Amino acid sequence: MNLTLKIWRQKDANDKGQMVDYKVTDISEHMSFLEMMDVLNEQLINTGEEPVAFDHDCREGICGMCSMYINGEAHGPDRGVTTCQLHMRMFKDGDTITIEPFRAAAFPVIKDLVVDRTSFERVQQAGGFISVNTSGNTQDGNAIPIPKKDADDAMDAATCIGCGACVATCKNSSAMLFVGAKVSQYALLPQGRVEATERVQNMVAQMDLEGFGNCTNTGACEIECPKGISLENIARMNSEFMKASLKG
Ligand code: SF4
Ligand code: FES
Repeated sequence: MNLTLKIWRQKDANDKGQMVDYKVTDISEHMSFLEMMDVLNEQLINTGEEPVAFDHDCREGICGMCSMYINGEAHGPDRGVTTCQLHMRMFKDGDTITIEPFRAAAFPVIKDLVVDRTSFERVQQAGGFISVNTSGNTQDGNAIPIPKKDADDAMDAATCIGCGACVATCKNSSAMLFVGAKVSQYALLPQGRVEATERVQNMVAQMDLEGFGNCTNTGACEIECPKGISLENIARMNSEFMKASLKG
């Protein structure tokens, strides 16, 4: 395949940035999208140009680093995949592909396609954990019976990889699918109930502080989420928040 790529280039956080056109040739349909980007970067390095900066780590859909907005969709045109799992067979010879960073006020661009998502980490640090206060009489987690449905729902929520596609997709740059998943994975389990009140209050407060927008139920986040995180998690977070507020 021969392709034209329109890529967002931005030297640093203060640069205005612009779209730049590139050509790549002989791209195999079996390549991943990131492998195609590697071909482009090799080409740029060989001609003495600055390679395109983009985030990646695991390249197998686990780490959530590969944040690219491809042809107007977070992680591109396929469903249930991250950019590193997106294959070039989703495109055809002669295509023009537009590649931009995830855009949200809470995810400022660092360089080219790399954005700063430490706002997610600060939300997580505000309550996305269980304190283990060992008393010497700590009960073995495996000895606590948990209904199968709760265990399954908690596990589904825990599959969120913190990629930020939900935020990038949302017209309000809302992080409620992400925070909903993180709150839910603990709220559904007895171990998570102990700190449930402070958790939801602190995580929601940090989410607001970071500048994420509110949810207006458009549902775009659920469609673009590579891990199929359900909107039910937002409803559960709202109900947890209400319960916490009533406790005062
Ligand atoms: S909810 Fe989905 S889209 Fe949002 S951060 Fe988690 S995995 Fe990514
Ligand atoms: S590089 Fe880890 S999810 Fe894409």
